[in-house]
Amino acid sequence: MSVLRGQFSSKLGFILASAGSAVGIGNLVGFPVMASKNGGGAFLFIYLLFIAFVCFPVMLAEISMGRASQSSPVGAFDSLSGNSKAWRAVGGLGIITPFFIAVFYAVITVWILIYLVQSAMGNLDVLANPDTFGATVSSPVMFAYLVPLLGVLFFILGKGVNDGIERAATILMPTLIVMMVLLIGFVLTLDNAFAGVSFYLVPEFSKIDSGVINSALNHGFFSLSLGMGILITYGSYLNKKENMVSSTRLVAIADTGVAFFAGLLVIPAVFAIDPGVNADELSESSISLMFSYLPQVFLSMQDFVGYFGASLVSFMFFTLVFFAALTSLVSITEIPIAYVMDEKDKPRREAIVYVGVAVMVFALVTTVSFGMSDFFTSFLHYGGISKSFFDLIYDVFYETILPLMGFVVCLFVCYRWKKHSMNEEIALGDSDYNDSFLRKYVGISLGTFIPVILLAVFMNNVSRIYFAHNLFGF
Ligand code: PHE
Repeated sequence: MSVLRGQFSSKLGFILASAGSAVGIGNLVGFPVMASKNGGGAFLFIYLLFIAFVCFPVMLAEISMGRASQSSPVGAFDSLSGNSKAWRAVGGLGIITPFFIAVFYAVITVWILIYLVQSAMGNLDVLANPDTFGATVSSPVMFAYLVPLLGVLFFILGKGVNDGIERAATILMPTLIVMMVLLIGFVLTLDNAFAGVSFYLVPEFSKIDSGVINSALNHGFFSLSLGMGILITYGSYLNKKENMVSSTRLVAIADTGVAFFAGLLVIPAVFAIDPGVNADELSESSISLMFSYLPQVFLSMQDFVGYFGASLVSFMFFTLVFFAALTSLVSITEIPIAYVMDEKDKPRREAIVYVGVAVMVFALVTTVSFGMSDFFTSFLHYGGISKSFFDLIYDVFYETILPLMGFVVCLFVCYRWKKHSMNEEIALGDSDYNDSFLRKYVGISLGTFIPVILLAVFMNNVSRIYFAHNLFGF
């Protein structure tokens, strides 16, 4: 490891960068839709329990692995296992997975960028046409946005941990919060907005079933950027003097807080325009909500604020989502870069070139899988449906490997690296940890029920996606 490792300049730098990673499209669009159609306040309650009792210990496990090994996933599994080849290979999964997630996330971020630019150019009426989304994603215009996006992404990453990742998060995250507060303030002044607030918050426990519980956990896990090697790598940039427990807690609170407040933005906006909307109409995917439904909602706001005002709201919304997506994209693309630097002893610039070229190639292939190339559009057939190259990446890496990685991390820290080593690492910078209830809870939960739950989610996802069969209920 001849290359000097980067380090966050402060605890706040770590918190902002990790929260930047965690806060993404999932928080701003996925969570509000999921919560409001699955029991509102009741869903929220279950989600909070999962974040506190299941996800939080896994976050600590990943961050402590990174900080103890001072390495990205491959090196972390390798050195903490006492150089086991098998565990090193498991760490390899922690590089391939973020790489492919980076590819598909980059493509979604391009869509957001297009909607942002088109809103600014006064084309909100075009965006509100339901056919626009399909036409956009299958048009070569995509390349005109993809290339500059990757340019910005690798420019930030090229600046390194302090001047790139940390700085971008320090600028983008507070801006995101301010824009969100402004938008919520505006939306809540619209007539009928409070019908949306109550739809979002009034608990309906009768809607909670095994499917809802499965998706709450799935979402919490993904929302906190777990199982992707991100927190292992960011942990390796965290100073040993810093209090890991309190920083991690703040990241979890920030991520959950943004998701919660996004619900106060998106759902009331929908109700203000369409008071008769019901859960079924909201049950389309969050992607179609964001790109087909919301532009129509924004356009209808012209009755209140004129076309210019409506375009401004749309522009601010897509800028908000774009910033959230960009910081997530930065975090996930950093993992393969850190791998090339750590394990191949390359300087950052060279690592950027390798990873940049690879991301570009796969992002191009993924981009043409929305209709431009028949071969990649109907790439495979499984689970009873034809799948594009994009679907394949999403299914394999996002849905399948992530819970599996979470499961593996639990087993690794408890039974290979050993709990006492993890606890020693966590206790550095937190003198109270050794005698705390948290220490006991983390040790017990990570060694028992958390891996069981993650394995169940993994198995259910495999069965559901590849065999069109839900293991638990419907
Ligand atoms: N946590 C992000 C979200 O909620 C998802 C994500 C982060 C995906 C980082 C990939 C990489 O949208």
